[in-house]
Amino acid sequence: MVKKKILKTLNKKKGMYLKEEEVTSHAGITAEELQNEIESLKSDGYIIDTSLSEGYRLVESPNRLLPYELQRELETKYIGQNVHYFKEVDSTNEVAKKLAENGAVEGTIIIAESQSRGRGRRGKRWLSPEGGVWMTIILRPDVSPVKAPQLTLITGVAVAQTLQNECQLDVGIKWPNDILIGDKKVCGILTEAAADKEFLDYVVVGIGIDLNVNVELFPPELRDGATSLQFELEKEIYSVELVQKFLKNFENIYEDFKEGNFPEILSQWRKLSKTIGKSVAVHKKGRIVLGEAVGITKDGILILEMEDGTLRKIISGECIHRPSENV
Ligand code: BTN
Repeated sequence: MVKKKILKTLNKKKGMYLKEEEVTSHAGITAEELQNEIESLKSDGYIIDTSLSEGYRLVESPNRLLPYELQRELETKYIGQNVHYFKEVDSTNEVAKKLAENGAVEGTIIIAESQSRGRGRRGKRWLSPEGGVWMTIILRPDVSPVKAPQLTLITGVAVAQTLQNECQLDVGIKWPNDILIGDKKVCGILTEAAADKEFLDYVVVGIGIDLNVNVELFPPELRDGATSLQFELEKEIYSVELVQKFLKNFENIYEDFKEGNFPEILSQWRKLSKTIGKSVAVHKKGRIVLGEAVGITKDGILILEMEDGTLRKIISGECIHRPSENV
């Protein structure tokens, strides 16, 4: 809280010196306390110049998803207005579920700089070193439990649009929820819901973006087919701004969803889809279904055209894009 007040004061005149008295009076602390807090901010990665005669000057903020930085210019109404931040945690989805059980409000986000037991879909592990965005959003939509999987699709649209707008890369979605750059995965989404037959209690949507991550250091089974934004753009990405834009975009799309506009969101999904029109292999509990992806139903179910021309609906599975035969 004190740190927040100090940073707010310093940020008002970023790059310029502020007298010690000005900062202490705004933050309501003594000069000694201020010095201690400044040291602590420096160890968080803030670059702050100190001059005996001129006072304090904020030179640079760290490229970290610290709650204060994230919320400073966040334009959302409720998504991300409550943040639980961890330097390291087992899995943000696990924390989110506990918080949701204890009544956390809709829009609460859990964010970690690294995860020791990050989880992917289908029981896979998800490597989550520092530099990535590992985040979970708690949602409480007043919709039937059967609609919960639609939240994965809307999150995919929000991530893909944000990356496309910010980075002008060839971003798209592999059904159901992998965000690709070219043909490499840059983001995965893990949605988990708590519901009884009729009512959805809460949904946690976990998003993992390989942002400033060196995927070449991943073990081969996780490295293959993966990329990071830093690798694609050949520069370090400022994570705070990207996440703020994503949260705003997500909130807009989620509001549309709650107003019953899922068909419009699905048409955005179709435009972003890298799966429709491809020859695919869908792995389902030890079986492999081969076909051509020809569409997606209004509920987000993949439609495959089989070799014999029949259509088959695929509710879930691991989808692999197969190389086109005439290339
Ligand atoms: C996938 O398999 O593609 C889904 C990956 C989801 C990873 C994210 S990172 C934040 C959240 N916490 C987790 O443990 N998993 C999700």
